This record gives sequence, structure tokens and C-alpha cells, in this order.
Amino acid sequence: MIPEYNKNFLKTYKRFDIIFEKGSGKYLYDRKGKKYLDFFCGISVCNLGHCNKKIVSAIKKQSEKLWHISNYFNHPKQSELADLLVKKTFKGKIFFSNSGAESIECAIKLARKFGSKTNRYEIISFKNSFHGRTLATLTATGQEKFHKNFGPLVKGFKYATLNNINSVKSLISSKTVAIIIEPIQGEGGVNPATKEFLECLRTICNTGNILLIFDEVQTGFGRTGNFFAFQHFGIKPDIICMAKSIANGLPLGATLVDEKFSNIFDFGDHGTTFGGNILSCVAGIEVVKLIDKKMLFNVRNVAGYFFKKLNEIKDKYEFIKEVRGVGLMVGVELNFDAKEVVEKCLEEGLVISVVQNNVLRFLPPLIINKKDVDECIKILDKIFFTL
Ligand SMILES: Cc1ncc(COP(=O)(O)O)c(C=O)c1O
Repeated sequence: MIPEYNKNFLKTYKRFDIIFEKGSGKYLYDRKGKKYLDFFCGISVCNLGHCNKKIVSAIKKQSEKLWHISNYFNHPKQSELADLLVKKTFKGKIFFSNSGAESIECAIKLARKFGSKTNRYEIISFKNSFHGRTLATLTATGQEKFHKNFGPLVKGFKYATLNNINSVKSLISSKTVAIIIEPIQGEGGVNPATKEFLECLRTICNTGNILLIFDEVQTGFGRTGNFFAFQHFGIKPDIICMAKSIANGLPLGATLVDEKFSNIFDFGDHGTTFGGNILSCVAGIEVVKLIDKKMLFNVRNVAGYFFKKLNEIKDKYEFIKEVRGVGLMVGVELNFDAKEVVEKCLEEGLVISVVQNNVLRFLPPLIINKKDVDECIKILDKIFFTL
């Protein structure tokens, strides 16, 4: 922590002693000019790299025309982005907000209203999930460490076990209105749901008239090698929550609701001042256009190579318990607290993060190539060798 930079902040983040001054593509530069390979992307936000030229140019152009008009007025850029997102997913309607938590909050409210006529309000989420820090999304988050000291929490949330369908069935009641799931848990330790499990959830939801909500805040926008992670599994959620990389670093969230459920909200039921602001939408349009087939192919191709290399390194060091993930959302579980590894990576010019204390998490930009993977592996090997 650098005291002079933190003197006016609440103690919520324990920041690293580095000041980044510039970002370009997959690299960050600190104020001493040291270069870092960024395999963190500001928590899977700058998926297209830092200061992507097309996005910069689009924002620059828009910033000289109009910034904000509120949601009381139409704007073609908002509509264009909504159109593009629907085309990438399924027929439905969108609510734009500013963040991941807000995109989930919107889904929770919609589910509550959906169930209000039949007195259904319970939502099943999963242990180790993460859905945000507002009171409702915090409650949806299935990790006690985030709940501690913030009670009373929001009523009506229950927590099942990922990939255990009986644990879900045992929580279903006449009051269940929705199931919310990250197709690959991010903050929970990079834990993918299985196809069979998600198929069973879909069946349960169809049978019980229950909404299936996918939290794709971290998994969306090419991260896993498809535009959205749900596209790996051959099933369709009723609601997709998105944020993070949707505008490559400008604040934007979106909740996409299947056409069937798009009349639940009425005028005035939900709102936001900044949500879907024009600059963020302009960035979002470029993001969606840039994540094309070629980019997704690159993600799958490089990811295959990354997993191969990580598994080779796993065979070398017995303290590596597991390598897991999908696409470029990768976790490496160690059998010890991995914070020190993250610090050493920073010293060596590689930015990564740790989740659940012992899982190294890699979220590189979608534009990396095999050479970047080699660079990352070289640094990891050097650090692991000294442990
Ligand atoms: C899966 C998931 N959902 C929701 C959120 C909350 O997003 P935000 O921090 O933008 O509110 C996060 C943030 O890490 C997340 O990973």
C-alpha cells in the first residue's frame, strides 16, 4: 500500500505497490517504464487489450457529440448495441445498467415480480458463487465470508452445490422462482459447471416454470472461446446477466431477458440514471464487432496450447493440484496460499490474480498468442522452481 495514494480511501482494497501509467494491447507499463504482460485484464474487463485503437477512435468521436441524455430519451447507439447483443444470443429484451451487480439485481427483481402473483420468491444459487456486492447480489453470492457482518441479508436465497443435481432438487419448493448460476464460477475458484448438470437445471426450470438465470458477467464476451459460455452447453438460459468486458473498460452492464418473459417489467418498475450511457454503448458496439469468428478461434486455439503447457508444468511440480477452466478463463490450484506467487509474478512482469487463496487465476486478453503463453509459462516455471 502506498500511503499517500490511499489516505482518502475507505479500507476496502489492499492495493499492490505499483502505479500503472499506460496500457497498450496486452501490456501495461508502470511509471518507471517497466513492462508487464497483463493476464488479468482488470478482472476480465479489457478483453480486447488496453486502448484498442478502434474503440478509442469510436469513443473520441462520440465524446465530441453527446455524452448523456438519461433513459428518458432514445439514442441510436443504445439501440444498436441492444440489437447486436440480441443477434449474438436469442430473441429478447435488454435493460442496460452500469455494472455486474446491477445486471444481477435487475434479474433478481424481475424474478421476484414474475413470482409475485403466485407467492414465489425463492432463488437458488450455488455455494462458491459470486454475484456482486450490493445487498441482494451479496446474498445471492454463496460464500459466507462475504455475508459476515452485513446481516440481516435479503430473504429467500438458498445455496445448492455446483454439479450436484440432487442438492438442487432438495431445495426446490413451491416458492422457487429462479435458479442463478455462473456457467464457470470465477471468484469461487474457476469451477466449470458440467453440460449434464446445466441440462438438468434447464429441465427442472422448464418443469417448474422457474427462471434460469446465467450470470455471464465474467464468462461473457469471448472469454471462454464462444461469445457467451452458455453456447458451449447447447442449452438456453431465460436471462443472461453481462458486464465487465462488454465495453472493454467503460462501465456498462446488461440484463437480457428472453422474449417470453419480457413483459414482466412494466414502465417504472426499474431504472437507472447512468445505465447504458452513450459512451459506454459506443465502446460496446465496437467490442461486439471485434469479437468475431477469427477472434474466438484464436481464443480456443491459444487456450488449447495454454492448457497443454500448464499441464506439462503440473507434471513437474507436485504442489500443483489441478489445472482447470474453459477457454482463456483458467485456474491453477496449488496446495498452498498463492498470494506470494502473484507478487513474484508482478516482479517478473506478469499480472495475474489469486482466488480462494490457493487458485492462480489467468484471464488474459483474447488477443494473446502462443508466444505470450510461453512467456507466462517461463515466468511461472522460474518462480515455481524457487519454491
Ligand atoms: C460472475 C460475476 N458476477 C457479478 C459480478 C459483480 O460485478 P461488478 O463488480 O461489476 O458489480 C462479478 C464481479 O467480479 C462476477 O465475477
